[in-house]
Amino acid sequence: MSGRRDSILVVDDQESMREFLEIMLTKEGYQVLAAEDGEHACRILDKETFDLVITDIRMRNINGIGVLKKVKDRSPETMVILISAFSTPETAVEAMKEGAFDYIPKPFKVNDLRRVVKDALKSKTAPEQEDTGSTSRFHFDFLLGESPQMKRVYDLIQRVSRTRSNVLITGESGTGKELVAKAIHHVSERRDKPIVVINCAGMPESLIESELFGYRKGAFTGAFADKEGLFDVAHGGTVFLDEVGELSPVIQIKLLRVIQERAFTAVGGVEVKRVDVRFISATNKELEQEVIRSNFREDLYFRLNVIPIAVPPLREREGDLPLLAQHFLEKFSKEMGKDIRKISTYAMDILGRYPFPGNVRELENIVERSVALETSNIVLPESLTLSTLKGRIEEKRRRSSDLGPKGIQLDQVMAEVEREYLIHALEIARGSKQRAAELLGITLRSLRYRLEKQGIAAEDES
Ligand SMILES: Nc1ncnc2c1ncn2[C@@H]1O[C@H](COP(=O)(O)OP(=O)(O)OP(=O)(O)O)[C@@H](O)[C@H]1O
Ligand SMILES: [Mg+2]
Repeated sequence: MSGRRDSILVVDDQESMREFLEIMLTKEGYQVLAAEDGEHACRILDKETFDLVITDIRMRNINGIGVLKKVKDRSPETMVILISAFSTPETAVEAMKEGAFDYIPKPFKVNDLRRVVKDALKSKTAPEQEDTGSTSRFHFDFLLGESPQMKRVYDLIQRVSRTRSNVLITGESGTGKELVAKAIHHVSERRDKPIVVINCAGMPESLIESELFGYRKGAFTGAFADKEGLFDVAHGGTVFLDEVGELSPVIQIKLLRVIQERAFTAVGGVEVKRVDVRFISATNKELEQEVIRSNFREDLYFRLNVIPIAVPPLREREGDLPLLAQHFLEKFSKEMGKDIRKISTYAMDILGRYPFPGNVRELENIVERSVALETSNIVLPESLTLSTLKGRIEEKRRRSSDLGPKGIQLDQVMAEVEREYLIHALEIARGSKQRAAELLGITLRSLRYRLEKQGIAAEDES
């Protein structure tokens, strides 16, 4: 760190807020200047540049978005954090698109603000490694991605957050359904109340009822005292039913009752307790099919699926892969105390062709392994372990070490293995022999020789 103090411009037309921010940030050691409104801010920005600008969104004349545009116009490298009241979520989303670093909903916790300010300044000093040319990093409460497919999801999250309607999130495994559920809760007006996560697959039926509804003393053996259920805890907040397709028929009925009557009774109790919760459910099953097969109650399905949100598989998100990969790279690099800054173009190329059946979670795991394995300061193709390729290697290993009663033809097995790898490498290298040779750790000459021997026709590049 240099000795220079980071400079921050605070813009808010509400005096108390302005003063609060000024005092708090000065105490933190920053050099702070305050502007009374958007116009004032723009005049200052004509003369001075800052490391960070923190601006309210709602202001007369020039609002926060106006200030943001001015900043990005004058000095694109300056970070901008917007503070928005709950009533303007769309504006906040718009702001993220315009290149804001983050937005903080009002009222906010001082610690949250501190953290975001730190992150913003850190990301400013971090070396630029954008090769996409885009500077705006669209993110939503840790949901990364700026593809049109994900923007549609963000848009739905914003809309849904203003209602208390139940939401059903569908999507393949690892697409980020839980993150979406949490994002909805955190932008909704329920955010100060808890979000209770219930894993419907993980809980035995006998337990789930007392967990959900709580119990009264003496309700069953071992109930030594009254106990609150998850619905008591979630009152006023959100209940997230993960893997909702796994709920047993008995629990399905009980849940339906809670949704219809907005009330429940503890196990062994008589008192009817009112409960105000929003249900967000998630499933990677085709729940509609489960309804047709009579595995899931239709009435419950309709109650839970008031607003459907489909999270797209990673392979369909245009342009999000490099962004996510870079994010995970930075995360794991830091965690493991390594200095790996980039994924080689070549490795990115391979990732780009991989279908990611396990979606974002799989990408996260792949990057984690690569960072652990990588010895240079750039992720090279060799340290990528993709499950299909890995699967093939392991299968071959198993097969080739299994002699069986009749033994094997070693030369033939080796030739088969070689053939598989040659074809696979060419596939990944999109026909580039130079790349395929590098992937296989052999010379171009050797590759040509082997291809010819195996009778694999591969076009020579011009
Ligand atoms: N858009 C995203 N940006 C950043 N991280 C993401 C994103 N989507 C998913 N992740 C990360 O990927 C992992 C899987 O996400 P999550 O648990 O939300 O998926 P899921 O759809 O609930 O998966 P499953 O169906 O297996 O339960 C998490 O570590 C999460 O942080
Ligand atoms: Mg999940």
